[in-house]
Amino acid sequence: MPIVNTTEMFKKAYEGGYAIGAFNVNNMEIIQGITEGAKLENAPLILQVSAGARKYAKHVYLMKMIEAAIQDTDLPIAVHLDHGPDFETCKSCIDGGFSSVMIDGSHLSFEENIAVTKKVVEYAHDRGVTVEAELGRLAGVEDDVKVSAEDSSYTRPEEVEEFATRTGCDSLAIAIGTSHGAFKFSGEPKLRFDILEEVSKRLPGFPIVLHGASSVIPSYVDMINQYGGNMPGAQGVPEEMLRKAASMAVCKINIDSDLRLAFTGELRKHFAEHPDHFDPRQYLTDARDGIRAMVRHKIVNVLGCNGKA
Ligand code: G3H
Ligand code: 13P
Ligand code: ZN
Repeated sequence: MPIVNTTEMFKKAYEGGYAIGAFNVNNMEIIQGITEGAKLENAPLILQVSAGARKYAKHVYLMKMIEAAIQDTDLPIAVHLDHGPDFETCKSCIDGGFSSVMIDGSHLSFEENIAVTKKVVEYAHDRGVTVEAELGRLAGVEDDVKVSAEDSSYTRPEEVEEFATRTGCDSLAIAIGTSHGAFKFSGEPKLRFDILEEVSKRLPGFPIVLHGASSVIPSYVDMINQYGGNMPGAQGVPEEMLRKAASMAVCKINIDSDLRLAFTGELRKHFAEHPDHFDPRQYLTDARDGIRAMVRHKIVNVLGCNGKA
């Protein structure tokens, strides 16, 4: 199976009322855990790579490992740039074999966001690559950038038709109250489903993307806290809210923090139970198993894309 772009998978997801999981990858164990989990559930996948991941692992290593995972699983897998900061990074990823890119102009003015997104779309579409854009701004920590709650802003539905038409983007990330990282709400979790509904009315059939969509699963936070970690107040998006979004126009749900929690929780537990271990294959096996279990849980209980590969 060759690397696929997101066109077909989003079309099926929209019509089927489910979402595709977009999982962040940074190393071999994460790639293997995600793709093995998806294989067991026969699910389509998006593996996404941030600028920070490219810096950490190098583009070529990630690309080659993802190619190996596609060969190993024979699943429809899109390789996507997460939060592309500028045209040059998007171009580099397109030239380097990615099938999908996000250009994140959410911090720019409306006109500047349109200009850079349009430029990326023109370059990408000539090469069969799909493009995600963003309108509205999420709070939270992503790469080295922290966006405070005051600097975040909900998507304005009255802007989406003009933005989608003028840019030609293939999917749109919107801000409805989720945020990046493991500390999403300080009180009652609340998402603006009215904004999602209004956006989908104005863009019928158009795939919407939800960032900052980890649930910060309490059992893993407990595991981290139990084995020497310290994450008081960690809180994510309740799974029933994500299921509701997936049944609506949301076709792509971004998950990174929950993978980090599973990886770190399993490592902490392993070292606490086996203080004598120093072979990376021993402790990284547990971390990879944690990723696999997390991805299977998301596919079956949140995304609903099991059996859709
Ligand atoms: O939204 C951002 C993702 O969680 C990626 O995080 O930029 O630290 O790799 P990162
Ligand atoms: P989380 O921090 O909620 O996992 O969000 C990840 C994300 O949006 C990646 O783009
Ligand atoms: Zn994001």
